[in-house]
Amino acid sequence: MVELGPEHPGIAIPIKEGMAHPSLLARLARARLFRKSPVAAYLNLNNWIWKRLPPSVTALPPLRSYGRFLHRLVRSRTARRQYFGTFFFRNRPQLTLIRRLSAQRGLGSIVKIAFLGCSNGAEAYSILWTIRSARPDLKIISQAVDISKEVLKLAQKGVYSLTAPELVEAPIFARINGDEMEAMFDPGKNGDDVQIKSWLKEGITWHLGDAGSPEILTLLGPQDIVVANNFLCHMTRPNADRCLRNIARLVTPGGYLFISGIDLDIRTEVALDLGWRPVRDLMEDIHDGDASVRNDWPWKYWGLEPFDKRRNDWEVRYASVFQLVPMVVRPPMQYENGRASRQRWLG
Ligand SMILES: C[S@@+](CC[C@H](N)C(=O)[O-])C[C@H]1O[C@@H](n2cnc3c(N)ncnc32)[C@H](O)[C@@H]1O
Repeated sequence: MVELGPEHPGIAIPIKEGMAHPSLLARLARARLFRKSPVAAYLNLNNWIWKRLPPSVTALPPLRSYGRFLHRLVRSRTARRQYFGTFFFRNRPQLTLIRRLSAQRGLGSIVKIAFLGCSNGAEAYSILWTIRSARPDLKIISQAVDISKEVLKLAQKGVYSLTAPELVEAPIFARINGDEMEAMFDPGKNGDDVQIKSWLKEGITWHLGDAGSPEILTLLGPQDIVVANNFLCHMTRPNADRCLRNIARLVTPGGYLFISGIDLDIRTEVALDLGWRPVRDLMEDIHDGDASVRNDWPWKYWGLEPFDKRRNDWEVRYASVFQLVPMVVRPPMQYENGRASRQRWLG
């Protein structure tokens, strides 16, 4: 196991879930027979069958429960690592919600927004374009952070190849239409690239930094909106929990946190613990709004389970946008055998 240094609590280094105290499931998941993994063969066979079943069948409750079991198996045998994958207009319902929230702001008011784990900037530019086209009167102060120098350079440059994926290895333009392309980009110098229009690039401050470090609050200051999507799922449970609580410190009371692409148990636990208000508007659409994570369930550890209204906690579990109310100081969480519990304050 590679332990994380305390100086970089947010960086995910390949680690297998449950390695410190392997559960029966984790031990089973890593078992070998004649140097081959029977669990891998079992998962491959299940995958083959699952992909041939119609969605109306895989959506049935018994198959969903079976899918949850398969997902647990996948998670206990897969090493976590960070990815740069992103898209322009990645989750349209999320953009609609941002537009609706920005419509509530007073004429000419200031909005402070921070993008954490910004990758090549596709998400930040898409959100800024959405707000700026709907509310040109707002004064937006935006900052974007990534832990990787290479990808941050791409984001800052705002020049994207139409043919080569450049670090991100994802079809970044797959979800944007022709009108939006024209509105956001100018033709680039090479003929096969495009560059973000200068009015859209203006005023963004780019930072190389770790969203999990305590200094992030000093670096960015309090924010009305914090967007932290699709990087906490690549961290171990304790690190994702710590990082999420750290990120939450950035949001001003009454402000909003956009937080998708994270282990749902951790998000639910922290949201309940800190009394966050789930935003109900477009909740299910946003949950289903990013096909790359929904379709990867249950086969990848980051796969997102189906929205399930039969769960008692569904409103918190499936919300990926929260309004943050003032935080109460409480004892920290501790993890043992993959389960979270609250430490007692001593003294
Ligand atoms: C999968 S991309 C997601 C990009 C974008 N947020 C999205 O949802 O499309 C994850 C990004 O988070 C960055 N990242 C990972 N850990 C981080 C950390 N602790 N602090 C800041 N950025 C981090 C990675 O370098 C990568 O660029």
